[in-house]
Amino acid sequence: MKDLIHIPDFTPDEIRNIMRLSHTIKKNPFQTALKNHTMAMIFEKPSLRTRATFEIGMVQLGGYSIYLQPGDIKLGQRETVADVARNLDRWVDIIMARTFPHDTIVELAHWSKVPVINALSDWEHPCQALADFFTAIEHGKDMKNFKMAFIGDGNNVCHSLMLLSAQFGADFALACPPGYEPEKKIIEQTQTLMSKNGGTLTVTHHPDEAVENADAVYTDVWVSMGQENESIDRKKLFQPYKINTQLLKNAKPDALVMHCLPAHRGEEITNEVIESKQSVVFDQAENRLHVQKAIILTLLHKDTQIHVSK
Ligand code: CP
Ligand code: NVA
Repeated sequence: MKDLIHIPDFTPDEIRNIMRLSHTIKKNPFQTALKNHTMAMIFEKPSLRTRATFEIGMVQLGGYSIYLQPGDIKLGQRETVADVARNLDRWVDIIMARTFPHDTIVELAHWSKVPVINALSDWEHPCQALADFFTAIEHGKDMKNFKMAFIGDGNNVCHSLMLLSAQFGADFALACPPGYEPEKKIIEQTQTLMSKNGGTLTVTHHPDEAVENADAVYTDVWVSMGQENESIDRKKLFQPYKINTQLLKNAKPDALVMHCLPAHRGEEITNEVIESKQSVVFDQAENRLHVQKAIILTLLHKDTQIHVSK
């Protein structure tokens, strides 16, 4: 049994299969492969895209989901994570969880007898990254010759994008304020994967340098969920790490502008840039649906039970 806790859980071949399956599912959205199947969705943090796309995805695959909202089950407070896992896995076929500490998802997966999907922790956001690369491929980008520039915080979303770049053998350049670099372990994992698959990793404090010749320019909020008490300091420190028209001029002229959303216009990205023709942010959001359906089908070994219209 397999989980999706972090990007290296899928090999480059499995990732390419998920990209292909996502494409097929996008063209053939309504399926019955998950008839009589249920997903438990545990949320410790708010969500629009993740909750909506997982829930809609299960319905479109013929299944059902239950939403366990923050404060509802009080994971680890009312009951241990291990006990929650060993109750849920008696009732449902798959669990997805959005948690504060990454270790909570790791522990859930350890105890659960059904697959567990990381729907964002403080460490990674693998479903987001897979949908983002699917979006870039859909927009004609060639992963053998692709550079993503990420401007902002070297945390969860950035971690998953770095690791996924490495699985595709693509180049990844991050510009972040000093002290906001990715975790050392993620840098090492990325470098190890890149030595096998190709690609290069650059971590700099200079946005111009990161964006140079990029095929996609990506950003995320300056203050992630759970960091609200650092808001004042972060908003000062991150000021030079904003995607605006001037910065975008250093990228390739057809570079995609990407953001996982929610966006704070005027902070990490200007309204002009996010509303520009280069922006694919709503394609990314849409593709969360298609790619997560492919992920669920893959983890439940139902990927061969898809009906394709002629
Ligand atoms: N990008 C993303 O995960 O959005 P939500 O927080 O709304 O789920
Ligand atoms: N880095 C952000 C991503 C939101 C989808 C956060 O963790 O809040």
